[in-house]
Amino acid sequence: MIKNIVVIGAGTMGNGIAHTFAQSGFKVNLVDVSQEALDRGLKTITTNLDRIIAKGNLTEEQKAETLGNIATFTALQDAVGSADLIVEAATENQELKLKIFGQMDEFAPENCILATNTSSISITKIAAATKRADKVIGMHFMNPVPIMKLVEIIKGYSTSKETFDSIYEMSKTLGKVPVEVNDYPGFVANRILMPMINESIETLYNGVAGVEEIDTVMKLGMAHPMGPLQLADFIGLDVCLAILNVMYDGFKNPKYAPNPLLVNMVMAGKLGIKSGEGFYDYSESKKAEKVAKMFSK
Ligand SMILES: NC(=O)c1ccc[n+]([C@@H]2O[C@H](COP(=O)([O-])OP(=O)(O)OC[C@H]3O[C@@H](n4cnc5c(N)ncnc54)[C@H](O)[C@@H]3O)[C@@H](O)[C@H]2O)c1
Repeated sequence: MIKNIVVIGAGTMGNGIAHTFAQSGFKVNLVDVSQEALDRGLKTITTNLDRIIAKGNLTEEQKAETLGNIATFTALQDAVGSADLIVEAATENQELKLKIFGQMDEFAPENCILATNTSSISITKIAAATKRADKVIGMHFMNPVPIMKLVEIIKGYSTSKETFDSIYEMSKTLGKVPVEVNDYPGFVANRILMPMINESIETLYNGVAGVEEIDTVMKLGMAHPMGPLQLADFIGLDVCLAILNVMYDGFKNPKYAPNPLLVNMVMAGKLGIKSGEGFYDYSESKKAEKVAKMFSK
């Protein structure tokens, strides 16, 4: 029975995952490398809970309960002692994830399931960094986690049926819709989404049209709720670049090569909403407005 959750990483996805579990009544230990990162994560959770209250879908009491279900830690080994499930949502970097999974394996109880929210890195490779590959699985939530229904449940080569069934069923208790996916670079969501985002950047880079124009074509012409460049800002341009690189390496296919403009923007620290600037400007006053708009979708 899964009761105690640990979430590693309090960034864009980690705070959303912690929020979602806590709001569904699970006890959550949230881990990040610094207290500042944890405080930022908690602030985002509080703001997002307030938005749900404003829509009439949550009470102040439920907000307090949700926040009361979350404890914060800066050392992984202090947080995982009684974990039934750990969801790793740290930075999209293979070396880092292998290291974290080694630590999770060392310090978490024997029966604890180790899940990763990676967007693209091989679950099989991550599992090989542990001595419990049968209990390692991909749990790929979508952004913003409290709102988006989909979770891709990715089976690594050695993931057991028991682990898969348990995570598939528990995702439903979070009000999510799980989809079974096999372990190949980018899984399903990003294998289809990232080439589209990369092609929109290529279209901009080639001077075919401007940022607003490209997004307008895709919103009004294809009925996408958000243009691909705005979506890239929302995901994080560093995350998009990391995913494209994993698919490029994994398939050895030039069609996944990240566009040089994306590479340059990441090197310049223009990462989208989280850095205040990407394809759009999110300077403080504009940022709140944009994020509120996205959450009201
Ligand atoms: N951004 C998205 O839309 C999105 C969607 C689905 C999945 N993902 C995946 O989720 C994961 C997290 O992405 P994100 O967008 O939240 O990144 P982010 O940069 O917003 O947050 C990453 C967090 O991990 C923390 N971190 C780094 N090393 C750590 C460690 N050793 N221990 C604990 N915390 C550590 C960082 O301090 C940071 O707070 C990535 O694997 C990414 O591919 C992202």
